[in-house]
Amino acid sequence: MRSTYPGPRAYISRDTNLPWWKRILPIIASHRLSFIASIVLSFTSLIFQTLVPNLLNSAITNSLEKHAAALHHAVIEILIFAVLAGVSGILSRQYLFRTAYEVEADLRSLIYEHLTWLSFSFYDRVQSGQLISRANSDIRSVQMYSTFAPLILVQTSIGVLAFGFMLTIDPLLACIAMVVMPILYVVGIKMRRVLFPISWITQARLADVATIVDENVNGVRVVKSFAQEEAEINRLADAAERVSWAYVKDAQIRGQWSPWVQNLPQLGLALVLAFGGVMVINGHLSIGAILAFNAYLLMLQAPFMMLGQLVMMGQRAKASAERIFEILDENPDVVERPGAYDLTNVKGALDFDHVSFRYGPDVEILKDFDLHVAAGEIVALVGRTGSGKSTVARLATRFYDASEGRVRVDGHNVRDVSLASLRTNVGVVLDEPFLFSVSVRENIAYGVPTASFEEVEAAARAAAAHDFISDLPQGYDTVIGERGYTLSGGQRQRIAIARTLLVNPPILILDDATSAIDVHVESTIYQSLATLMTSRTTVVIAHRISTIALAQRVIVLENGRVVADGTHDQLLATSALYAEILAQTMDEEV
Ligand SMILES: Nc1ncnc2c1ncn2[C@@H]1O[C@H](COP(=O)(O)OP(=O)(O)OP(=O)(O)O)[C@@H](O)[C@H]1O
Ligand SMILES: [Mg+2]
Repeated sequence: MRSTYPGPRAYISRDTNLPWWKRILPIIASHRLSFIASIVLSFTSLIFQTLVPNLLNSAITNSLEKHAAALHHAVIEILIFAVLAGVSGILSRQYLFRTAYEVEADLRSLIYEHLTWLSFSFYDRVQSGQLISRANSDIRSVQMYSTFAPLILVQTSIGVLAFGFMLTIDPLLACIAMVVMPILYVVGIKMRRVLFPISWITQARLADVATIVDENVNGVRVVKSFAQEEAEINRLADAAERVSWAYVKDAQIRGQWSPWVQNLPQLGLALVLAFGGVMVINGHLSIGAILAFNAYLLMLQAPFMMLGQLVMMGQRAKASAERIFEILDENPDVVERPGAYDLTNVKGALDFDHVSFRYGPDVEILKDFDLHVAAGEIVALVGRTGSGKSTVARLATRFYDASEGRVRVDGHNVRDVSLASLRTNVGVVLDEPFLFSVSVRENIAYGVPTASFEEVEAAARAAAAHDFISDLPQGYDTVIGERGYTLSGGQRQRIAIARTLLVNPPILILDDATSAIDVHVESTIYQSLATLMTSRTTVVIAHRISTIALAQRVIVLENGRVVADGTHDQLLATSALYAEILAQTMDEEV
């Protein structure tokens, strides 16, 4: 099943000079309704909460001391206020969490969308696995801050209201009661400041553990074949030890600071009782007022502490946002030009006109590479390892762009046509086929998910894969283990060939795609390729003489240039290099 998530409604701001939170703003703004609802509701809830101590004060004074008003009125009023505060609190949370997780989903799909858009050159540079896992925790910290920060600010603003109420009851006592608040704020900040580095260390060490576990699971075959299990266990134990050190340190610091944070408000209560008590004894203050003050003080405690937390969360969110922007600000090198058109009715001519190419700034891999393949031709590309054969295939599908010269399909410059149409018309089978952990059938139908079972089977037959697939426990419905490890190398390659054949590209490039398949099966594959598609252009990159001999024409590549071009027999007679390369591959085959 394909997911139908509509995708993010907004993109981050492209202006890299803006502060980080302004760049995120469009995404939050796209959820403004639920966001504003949550803020308004939370404000409402807090107002009701702040009104309660005031009611309590007047109830004690008017009903209990002066017997001037009925007590049950006040009780009912307090109950109503409590219910209203509760209901709006519940609703506010619901809206807030909805906003938070929608923002998170948007950020996540923005990043993944962007990652799929980026070119091969980006993946050559970065470790994609780390990128993705890092993006996960960074998204979380940005999401938390951008939705909870406004909420905490609302709560703090309620502090002003509470202070206002206290001022109306008794200005002097209000100031005395508030004395501890700045201390609480400072202590909160100090505690977070010592905790912050340790929480970073914890995160980093947890990531180390995750990397080791990940490598051991993915590389389990290497670990076991070198009998390094014990070394790996020790490596993990070391990493786990380091994590636990960080957690213990964290707990120690919390243990030292928490009593202060928890008990400072008691100091405030004591001050209120001392000064307020004297005032009550002297008849300047009611008992209800002291109770109201107590309630306000307890109410204020949380926002003041959270304010300190907000500062730390802000720093963390900023760092996370910058790492997210690092990905989102990356532009792909290979992009469709505006007005790119679709390639249609491709006959299969493939031309490289004096192409030069380098991966990075340093070595030129292809130099003035000039090759013309006519529609329907079968060409073998031969050369020493590292001579640039796979690079030729990558330029034909525009995984990279040539730095000089042109690559043309049926006369159309590959830079002028849409990438999707180019890649459906030029099919490449790589030597290391990546299979997904789904059924064989879904793997073969990857490029054409709508293909019928008959089409899938025909492609499998052409790739000489039908027989072994039929022998699998559930045939075409057998689910392949991760990365195809439950199949042999040659079986994987045949499924990969079937996958490309199903798309039926007029130009087919087989890059060492049959290297693990035995010679007899390989020749049946090439026979079926020839009978199935007479009009197909095929470029075969191969080392084996048996494979090369199937081609009508052989091209020899050396140092990024075409150095010989002709039939197998011609080259054997004229090219010393060709003879040398073949001699080498013969050695390997024996
Ligand atoms: N993604 C890359 N980034 C940088 N350099 C690369 C990259 N891919 C290949 N190279 C370099 O380009 C050169 C040509 O590589 P290429 O893969 O085209 O060789 P090849 O002829 O296919 O070799 P083989 O027969 O071993 O598959 C090599 O020197 C290689 O180191
Ligand atoms: Mg190669």
